[in-house]
Amino acid sequence: MRIGVIGAGQLGQMLGFAAAELELDCEFLDPSDSPPAADCGHVIRAPFDSHTALETLAANCDIITYEFENVPVEALTAIDKQVPIYPPPEALKHAQDRLAEKELFESLDIPLPRYAVIDSRDDIDKAIDALGLPIVIKTRRFGYDGKGQFVLREASQADEAWQAVGNSALIAEQWVPFDFEVSVIGVRSKAGEVAVYPLTRNEHRNGILHTSCAPVEAPALSSLGGSYVQSLLEHLDYVGVLALELFVADGRLLANEFAPRVHNSGHWTIEGAETSQFANHLLAICGRQPGSTAVRGHAGMLNLIGEIPPAARRLPQGELHDYGKTARPGRKLGHITVVADTAVERDRLLADIEQSVTQSS
Ligand SMILES: Nc1ncnc2c1ncn2[C@@H]1O[C@H](COP(=O)(O)OP(=O)(O)O)[C@@H](O)[C@H]1O
Ligand SMILES: [Mg+2]
Repeated sequence: MRIGVIGAGQLGQMLGFAAAELELDCEFLDPSDSPPAADCGHVIRAPFDSHTALETLAANCDIITYEFENVPVEALTAIDKQVPIYPPPEALKHAQDRLAEKELFESLDIPLPRYAVIDSRDDIDKAIDALGLPIVIKTRRFGYDGKGQFVLREASQADEAWQAVGNSALIAEQWVPFDFEVSVIGVRSKAGEVAVYPLTRNEHRNGILHTSCAPVEAPALSSLGGSYVQSLLEHLDYVGVLALELFVADGRLLANEFAPRVHNSGHWTIEGAETSQFANHLLAICGRQPGSTAVRGHAGMLNLIGEIPPAARRLPQGELHDYGKTARPGRKLGHITVVADTAVERDRLLADIEQSVTQSS
């Protein structure tokens, strides 16, 4: 069976590696020159919305999936009679627009931070009155790794915020004084079987994921997070892997956003779970039953952003994943995963690795 993957970045590469283990072929669509997934299958070099390229991918493949969220939904619906597309483009539609995403959470009774729609400069003042300070103003579309966001701590920053992001459709959110951030990754098969990975704790730096650790040993939060993912998966008649990001504040979960794809906060599942998120995504979209999402211990992941320091290649413990990308500030170039028998040991290992990697850079 041949899987067509829209996007050939590191997520496509990891899908490609998992596909090879499952004896599936992959073909990719990506406009970049030497994308990470080029080692894993043929890459059609074209823009994501190229109808001809999408038609070729559809003609060459049995199933289409995507590892990149900003594929125009209309470009997908133009080929969905030709080939099955999973996850359903309807899920992508909600994930691409922060307002539609929040309305979806509300319709499913998934709690979320208070927010307001911003259509004009005056709406910023209204949002400050309604939500209180600080607030974060975000572009409704195309944001990633904290891009397209402006944190407003003082009312006097309103003009600056409007100048920075006011040329796009916006929403404002209350700034959540969270205790920590988590994500829940779930998978749903065509037959409707759902499996959920244990809760993952995430730390972001400058809006970019820095570390992920799993499992979070908080049974009540885990089952609540799992139930939110389950209702999203079922409501969207979803097939494949979905990740939900949440804030934990005062013991409550507040949904931040979801990604209709495999997710950076699930990279630990390659070494740390019985079945990786990549294998499970492929199993689900191929009509097979998802594998076990149980953890193999206590896993931790450190993202390598901007450079892969030499020390990362000489670690006595930990698995380095080098995506083979050209170094650039702020770019995700690789990650390191550790798996230990206890959470204490995992935290110690991760801290040691972080220290040696930072020192050598
Ligand atoms: N309302 C908020 N309150 C507190 N922190 C936030 C809020 N929104 C975003 N952040 C911080 O910024 C990070 C990136 O924001 P997010 O909305 O997830 O956008 P992106 O699409 O860039 O991942 C979050 O993981 C969190 O650390
Ligand atoms: Mg996010």
